[in-house]
Formats: sequence, C-alpha cells, structure tokens
Amino acid sequence: MALERTLSIIKPDAVVKNVVGEIYARFEKAGLKVVAAKMKHLSRKEAEGFYAVHRERPFFNALVEFMISGPVMIQVLQGDNAILKNRELMGATNPKDAAKGTIRADFADSIDANAVHGSDAAETAAVEIAYFFAATEVFPR
Ligand code: TYD
Repeated sequence: MALERTLSIIKPDAVVKNVVGEIYARFEKAGLKVVAAKMKHLSRKEAEGFYAVHRERPFFNALVEFMISGPVMIQVLQGDNAILKNRELMGATNPKDAAKGTIRADFADSIDANAVHGSDAAETAAVEIAYFFAATEVFPR
C-alpha cells in the first residue's frame, strides 16, 4: 500500500453545522492522520484559483460564492491510500447519489453545498496541498 497525503476541505456548510469534529473522527477511524490543518475564510481570488480547473463550468460562479460564504477547515490527511480512502469516506459529489454512511450522505444538503472537498489524484493532491500549506506547516507522523 502507498503512504499518501491528500488535501481535504470541510466546506462552509459543514462548518456552520458544527460537524468538524464528527468529520475528523471519520478520518481518524479510517486510519487517516491529520498532519496539517488551518481554519480560513477564503478570499474570492483564493477560491477561484483553487477551483481554476472548473473555470469554464456553468456552476463555477456559484461554487466560488459558496466557498467564500464562511470559514472552511482545511487539512492534509496522511495514510495508506489516503487519496482514495478519503474519496470513499466523502461519497459521491451529489449527496443524493452518495452511499449510506458517507460524509456527504450524512452531512451534505445538495450538490453545490456538499460538505467536503478531497483531492482526486496524486498530482492534484500535491498541487492542492502546496496551494494552502508551506512544507514547514505539514507534520508527517
Ligand atoms: P467535482 O470536482 O466534479 O466534484 P468533487 O468535489 O466530488 O471532486 O466538482 C467540484 C465541486 O463543484 C463539487 O464538489 C461541487 C461543485 N459542483 C456543482 O456545484 N455542480 C455540479 O454539477 C458539479 C459537477 C460540481
């Protein structure tokens, strides 16, 4: 198994619902370690830059507005197959399609307010971690 790191964001809807701890517990129970974390209210520029790959998509403006609507909790998760493991814990993008017991099934209201972000591949994980954290802010353990 590959020891990986992935970027996770608990989005404004889940922060407002006060379920940051419940979501962290799911990471930890699945064997993922939080090796970096910060709470942040993203600027429009930061949110647009983070989701730049979606710039041409019809939902881009709404996505950016949502992501800057309140603070988010940003963390780096480390563990065996962390990228896929986190995606499995998250569930499908649309909570209506998310498997029972996943974070999105339990905490998300809609496809646009869907509680969590998680990197989808090794290359994007590296870029997304570096987008929010300096190397000195990540504590491998
Ligand atoms: P995407 O990368 O496809 O999903 P995921 O977050 O599961 O990797 O999309 C990024 C975010 O964009 C998604 O979490 C919510 C938003 N989004 C919409 O608002 N509407 C849509 O139709 C899609 C596909 C995504």
